[in-house]
Amino acid sequence: MTPALQSVLSPAGPDAALLAQLSWLLFGAGAVIFVLVAGLAIASIWRRRWRPSSRLLVIGGGIILPLPLLAALMVWSGWQGSRLTWPFSGAARIQVSVTGHMWWWEVRYRNTRTGREAVLANELRLPAGERVYLALGASDVLHAFWLPTLAGKVDMVPGRLHGLTLRADAPGRHRGQCAEYCGTQHATMALDVVALPAAEFDAWLEHQAQPALNASLRGRDVFLAARCNACHTVRGVAEGGRQGPDLTHLASRSHLGAGALPLNRAALLGWIANPQAAKPGARMPASSLPPEDLQALAGWLETLQ
Ligand code: CUA
Repeated sequence: MTPALQSVLSPAGPDAALLAQLSWLLFGAGAVIFVLVAGLAIASIWRRRWRPSSRLLVIGGGIILPLPLLAALMVWSGWQGSRLTWPFSGAARIQVSVTGHMWWWEVRYRNTRTGREAVLANELRLPAGERVYLALGASDVLHAFWLPTLAGKVDMVPGRLHGLTLRADAPGRHRGQCAEYCGTQHATMALDVVALPAAEFDAWLEHQAQPALNASLRGRDVFLAARCNACHTVRGVAEGGRQGPDLTHLASRSHLGAGALPLNRAALLGWIANPQAAKPGARMPASSLPPEDLQALAGWLETLQ
């Protein structure tokens, strides 16, 4: 069975485990209340020969049963909530800022020890077993950051920063999803999340901080001539474009368009020629490149490991 990448009921970190426990408890207690109230309803109908006795039902099923149960649940869920990881940036070695855009994620890493920074998009990698601090914001409208297997939802609000500290217990894949309606492509605003062993994570981050290799191919010239760099940065080639995802290490990602397409040559060609086909409303315009330029561009993008 493939593991559930995006289910609250498959927790893979301490906060998610608390939330899963809480979900099961609320579901169980709700089921108990339902069965008891239904039982009372049946009993009252039975006793009054099919005429519902309102007193038994209203006082028993409406007040005496639910009140103490709901009060106990409220106290317990408040206490569990207070045990969730407090968003505190100081303790975390790795700090990441995630910005919601219509309709993709900008992910910036900062290693607090080395001062190294790396920018990527639509993919978040985490060192397994380590707490990572995320600063969450938005550039245009409300979005919400939700990694069901690792933590609770956090709103992303333009002009504000919200913090979240999370930990993945073990190496593995997860999937996040924008959880606040943000326009036409809200549903295709997904985030690939990979937890790696710490050493592998450090090597990956070091690599992500490097400028692009293969900076002198024909595809690069197409990229510049078509002004793709007005919106996209490829470090070492053209910097400054921040409207669209940073593409410096595009080929190391698994999806295109924030989960809209798998990353392969055919998808790249289709996406560059007409992004609207896969993701109607996406901010990226269609291109009118001749086929050989398109091939060269896609081929070059595929080398950006
Ligand atoms: Cu971003 Cu919904």
